[in-house]
Amino acid sequence: DWTTASIVDEQIAKIREQIGEDGRAICGLSGGVDSAVAAALVQRAIGERLTCVFVDHGLLRSGERAQVERDFVAATGVNLVTVDARERFLTALAGVSDPEQKRKIIGREFIRVFEQAERDLKAEGDYSFLVQGTLYPDVVESGGGASAANIKSHHNVGGLPEDLQFELVEPLRLLFKDEVRRVGLELGLPETIVHRQPFPGPGLGIRIIGEVTAERLEILRAADAIAREELTSAGLDNDIWQCPVVLLADVRSVGVQGDGRTYGHPVVLRPVSSEDAMTADWTRLPYDVLERISTRITNEVAEVNRVVLDVTSKPPGTIEWE
Ligand code: XMP
Repeated sequence: DWTTASIVDEQIAKIREQIGEDGRAICGLSGGVDSAVAAALVQRAIGERLTCVFVDHGLLRSGERAQVERDFVAATGVNLVTVDARERFLTALAGVSDPEQKRKIIGREFIRVFEQAERDLKAEGDYSFLVQGTLYPDVVESGGGASAANIKSHHNVGGLPEDLQFELVEPLRLLFKDEVRRVGLELGLPETIVHRQPFPGPGLGIRIIGEVTAERLEILRAADAIAREELTSAGLDNDIWQCPVVLLADVRSVGVQGDGRTYGHPVVLRPVSSEDAMTADWTRLPYDVLERISTRITNEVAEVNRVVLDVTSKPPGTIEWE
C-alpha cells in the first residue's frame, strides 16, 4: 500500500545517506521477522555491500538454522555467513541464572561474534556498519524511548557493549511489528518469514528459568517443537501472537508414570494474543489442543512430567518469563 511504499522509499534513502557510496554493513540475522526485514531493506539500499551473519548460539529452536539458510537466502539472494558459536555461548552463560545478566551476556557475545566475522571479512573491504532490527517497542522497553522505565534489556538495545566497534543502522526504530510485516511484504519476503511469530534474540536462553546448560536446552527444544507442531496442525498459528514454552529447570515435582515415581521438571505454556507485544492477553486455547500438547510432551520428553498453563495478561506479566 501507499504508506508502506513510502516508508520503504524513505528508509532506503536514509540508509544510503548513512552508509554512503562505498560503506559496507553486516547484519545479524536472528531468524525472526525484524532482522530479516531490516536486512532486506538494507540490501535494497546497498546491494552486495551487505553481508548477513547468522549466529547459531545454540539457543535456537529446532529447525531454525535450516530455515534461515534456506528461506531467507532463497527470497533475497543475500550474502550469508553462518557462524557456529554454540560452545562460546554455553561457556559464557555457565553458572548464570539472573535474567538481566543472561541478556547482557548474550548481547555482548553476539557483538563479539559479529566483530570476529567483520575481521574475517576484512579481505573484501571495511565493514563499519551494523544493521539491527530494533523496533520502537524495544527502544521504549529498554528505557531509551519516551518511557524512563527499564523493563527488560532487549539484547539489541540495552545489551550492547560500551566499546561497540560499529556504527548502528536501525531502519525499523520507529516502527511497530504490524508495520514491519507490511514493509517485509512490500519488499517481497515470503509469508513464512513475514508472518513468523516473534522469537526473542536471546532465544531459549531466557526460556530456561535457571542456569542454561546443553541438556536443559535439549529438553526445552523438544518440548517447544511439540507445542509448535500441535498448534500449527490445529490451525491456530494466526490466532496467537506467540506461545513461549518455558522450562522451570530448578523446579521439580513428583509424578507417576507406568509403575514408577518420577521427579521431573514442569514446562509452562504461555500462549498470548497481542497487537504489538506492548500489552497481551492469554489465549484461550481449545482444551483438546492443550491436552494433546500436554500428553505428547510428558510422553515424549522424559525429563518433563508436568505441563502448566500461564493465564496471566501483560501487564502484570511480561510475555517472556525473563
Ligand atoms: P516481553 O517479554 O517484554 O516481550 O513482554 C515482548 C516481545 O518481545 C520479545 N522479546 C524480545 N525480542 N530480543 C528480541 O528480539 C529480546 O531480547 C526480547 N525479549 C523479549 C518477546 O518474545 C515478545 O514478543
